[in-house]
Amino acid sequence: MSDLTARQGARVFYTWTAQKDAVPLEIVSGRGARFETDDGGRWLDLGSMTWNAHLGQGHPAMTRALAEAASRGLVASPGAVFAEKARAGELLAEVAPRGLTKSFICLSGAEANENALKMARLVTGRSKVVARNRSYHGATLAMLSLSGDPRRARFEPGLPGVVRLADPYCYRCPFGKEPRSCGLDCAADLEAVLGREGPESVAAVILEGVAGANGVFVPPQGYFRMVREICDRHGILLVADEVLSGFGRTGRWFAVDHDGVTPDIITCAKGLTAGYAPGGAAIVTERIARHFDDEVLWCGLTAYANPLVCAAIVAAITTYRDERLVERAAQTGRWLGPRLERLAASRPFVGEVRGLGLLWALELVLPGSRTPQPAGAMGRLAAALRSRRLHVHKRDNLVYIAPPLVVTESELEEALEKLGAALDEVLS
Ligand SMILES: Cc1ncc(COP(=O)(O)O)c(C=O)c1O
Repeated sequence: MSDLTARQGARVFYTWTAQKDAVPLEIVSGRGARFETDDGGRWLDLGSMTWNAHLGQGHPAMTRALAEAASRGLVASPGAVFAEKARAGELLAEVAPRGLTKSFICLSGAEANENALKMARLVTGRSKVVARNRSYHGATLAMLSLSGDPRRARFEPGLPGVVRLADPYCYRCPFGKEPRSCGLDCAADLEAVLGREGPESVAAVILEGVAGANGVFVPPQGYFRMVREICDRHGILLVADEVLSGFGRTGRWFAVDHDGVTPDIITCAKGLTAGYAPGGAAIVTERIARHFDDEVLWCGLTAYANPLVCAAIVAAITTYRDERLVERAAQTGRWLGPRLERLAASRPFVGEVRGLGLLWALELVLPGSRTPQPAGAMGRLAAALRSRRLHVHKRDNLVYIAPPLVVTESELEEALEKLGAALDEVLS
């Protein structure tokens, strides 16, 4: 362990881990999907840092834009007017689905969701929220308890009025159906849930565009259209949490674009600033925007639409457009999918490969069954991936592939070879 790692570990917490179990990563340099650590390690990033480094490390457009914004030295209050703030709002309205016109700009995904749900309550005058069983919406007390993610358990009882909905988890379909013949029971379940709760008590349904850290559940075609229709029938707002799935991650600007649906609110973070500054946003429809022309928007924060955040948003969106990275993610995804299938075909411990664009999961099982690989094997796999210098997110029996949008096919070839070798070393 380096001196720096020791000094830092003594004074600054690592997250989501007992401190002695933390696996620090001292990055000293990087470019695109590659980075180097203090011990001389040369890594490939298959996880986009915290699923947010859409532009990889050291992108010159980002470093330039942030340096310029910092050099102005503007200390702005939430009501301040400046060019990057106006431009960030305009760009968000341009890339969001048609009809989403105005943004609330904050610092994180959790904050974006918190404010989206506050707005939904203010607009509808109702309080309950429907969220899925396997979902993650952030680590604040309210957003963690809204999440179906098991990490909420230690903080319960949490936010009152949270109602659960089944997941579009086709590999382990909660209704025992097959995707080709199911009739979208997981979306239709919303009608049953609302019937039990009383739809007039429900302000919003919040759904990840594609559930990310809980397992990459790509909703079947038509899923969001059916949910949209049910919400409309009951005057309930649809909030798409695109914190992880937004900004090209799935090969479209937002995952709901695959279904041609406009939610009432899209929440985003991560790719919004590509990790170069903290940033989050809730983008709302014209109707919601107009509501707050006359009514007070009871939302705010000291660092609201901070100048560095706005500069990062403008630079990130401009770069996605200039480099056609959303299209490139779709194309690379079409290249990657069959290769992951091929990797799985000769390995009976890969139960399913699922995903789209540059968001994929491998579900690892005991051969000949759908029983998840045990924690011990997954721990050994984590070590095998680390020893090959692959930065990969893992959880339970899942391995995720979510590289920066700027990754090249040759980098992915190299990564897949190493991934296959690590899987064989531990699970064959
Ligand atoms: C779908 C989703 N929503 C919300 C969040 C919370 O975002 P943040 O960590 O920026 O608060 C995350 C973070 O991983 C996420 O994946």
